[in-house]
Amino acid sequence: MGGFQLPLIALVLTVCSAVGNPETPAHEDGAPPSRIAVVGAGIGGSATAHFLRQHFGPEVQVDVFEKGEVGGRLATVTVNHNEYESGGSIIHSLNLHMQEFVKQLGLKYRRNVAGKTAVFNGEELILEETDWYLLDLFRLWWRYGISFIRLQMWVEEIMEKFMRIYKYQAHGYAFSSVEELLDSLGGSGFINMTRRPLSDSLLELGVSQRFIDEVIAPVMRVNYGQNVSIPAFVGAVSLAGAQNNLWAVEGGNKQVCSGLLKMANANLLKAQVTSISPLHSGELLQYQLNFTAASGVGSELYDIVVLATPLQASVGSGLQFQDFAPPFDELPGSYHGTVATIVHGYLNTSFFGFPDPRLFPFASVLTTETPSLFFNSVASVCPVNISAGFRRKQPQEAGVYKVFSPQSLDKSQLKTLFRSYYSAQVTEWQAYPQYGSSQGLPPVELHPNLYYLNGIEWAGSAMEMSSVAAKNIALLAYHRWNKQTDMVDQKDLMHRIKTEL
Ligand SMILES: *[C@@H]1O[C@H](CO)[C@@H](O)[C@H](O)[C@H]1NC(C)=O
Ligand SMILES: *[C@@H]1O[C@H](CO)[C@@H](O)[C@H](O)[C@H]1NC(C)=O
Ligand SMILES: *[C@@H]1O[C@H](CO)[C@@H](O)[C@H](O)[C@H]1NC(C)=O
Ligand SMILES: *[C@@H]1O[C@H](CO)[C@@H](O)[C@H](O)[C@H]1NC(C)=O
Ligand SMILES: *[C@@H]1O[C@H](CO)[C@@H](O)[C@H](O)[C@H]1NC(C)=O
Repeated sequence: MGGFQLPLIALVLTVCSAVGNPETPAHEDGAPPSRIAVVGAGIGGSATAHFLRQHFGPEVQVDVFEKGEVGGRLATVTVNHNEYESGGSIIHSLNLHMQEFVKQLGLKYRRNVAGKTAVFNGEELILEETDWYLLDLFRLWWRYGISFIRLQMWVEEIMEKFMRIYKYQAHGYAFSSVEELLDSLGGSGFINMTRRPLSDSLLELGVSQRFIDEVIAPVMRVNYGQNVSIPAFVGAVSLAGAQNNLWAVEGGNKQVCSGLLKMANANLLKAQVTSISPLHSGELLQYQLNFTAASGVGSELYDIVVLATPLQASVGSGLQFQDFAPPFDELPGSYHGTVATIVHGYLNTSFFGFPDPRLFPFASVLTTETPSLFFNSVASVCPVNISAGFRRKQPQEAGVYKVFSPQSLDKSQLKTLFRSYYSAQVTEWQAYPQYGSSQGLPPVELHPNLYYLNGIEWAGSAMEMSSVAAKNIALLAYHRWNKQTDMVDQKDLMHRIKTEL
């Protein structure tokens, strides 16, 4: 991704840790929790383990259950001895939690190798990025008028408000629901944006239908595999990502997850959690987690549990809720299936109207909403490790490409998009929520000490959104445990923080 520059205001924030003094616990009997479980070791679960450790201190045992691979939707595939990102691949320069993780873990930023983007409508390229930023601006202006500037200002304003979360979290404030969190950042306007279609918000702003069809729709298709009917808030989050100051982690983004688990000194259990049930004995409430591992079945008790895996039936977490009164309703909605195919071969540039591949200057092609098109995007990708001498392969050479499509590509589709290929590796993701399949945002607090992280994805599905939710849940769990109600769901935080300083 990348190409449509939407420069954003850079905010400088000091991220400090104002809470998490484990010397002053205030639970019923004054005891801190002794055991906490996190289910899921994707970015959300790993970051939660890290923040729980930060706030609850070194004594508590943190167990992290993962049935698949650490990293979850951050994963790589190997082609020709090089690894390529097959899932979540880009990180925005204003993603402060992700940046902080990379810094603390001593990881390196992966160099961005420049490449141009074009938009294809099934017949021809309708938008082509050039080498010259001013010319691109001029062309956008020419084609879409004021739309481009309006959109840029809209995204900037939303990002600026969203960035307040880092200040609130640095001061230790937590929120009991995604609605409360959004309301504290952008008032009812933010909550409304999770409920109305992106296209409505943009049309109201005065963005032209043509701009929506030719620029916004292609960006939504590559980022979320969906159309401009997705909620405005999700759309804004992904438009903030449609710009040039993006980065990735050298060696693969999933290293952030394994690094955080290590730094948190968490016990990683390679096991599928099959059931969770509350156990009351007198005043004490604990949760029993039953699980299946390669070595057999097991059962453990925890004081606090964080579920960091989507609970919608279509994703198949395999987790049963037992003995909760009242029983949990299944979470409504489904996840959107997206197929990532990593192809090693020769791009068929004729398909895009360039019979001579040497004249094809683009590294990525996005697509408009066109029924006959069987893919959402195709892009030349760089390996997770980039050596000093690395350059992108030219279209006349065999290169590695990532194709996103709603369904697996069959042989004839691959033969249409590639003149010939050596290999095609397919990863099918339950990638992000199927927006529109559910109204409302899922709860964060499922039971007194049982929390759910992935509800945040319905407001916006991105690594940073999960990291923000992870910090929030660690703070929330800490304040709930210590009965610090004055740190949860506080109003007028901008004002309070100013007077606290
Ligand atoms: C959000 O929607 C509610 C209910 O429709 C409305 O009362 C409120 O004014 C809206 N907020 C904004 C900022 O538009
Ligand atoms: C977008 O997709 C949804 C679900 O697939 C569909 O119901 C809706 O009509 C589409 N909207 C547009 C503007 O194409
Ligand atoms: C890729 O980079 C990571 C992190 O810098 C390093 O640990 C790994 O050995 C590298 N792999 C290759 C094949 O160079
Ligand atoms: C969990 O495992 C324990 C011990 O094996 C068993 O007594 C309990 O019935 C199991 N709970 C559920 C919900 O399966
Ligand atoms: C490449 O694209 C052209 C134009 O769509 C098509 O005629 C051809 O069959 C495609 N495949 C190959 C292998 O050239």
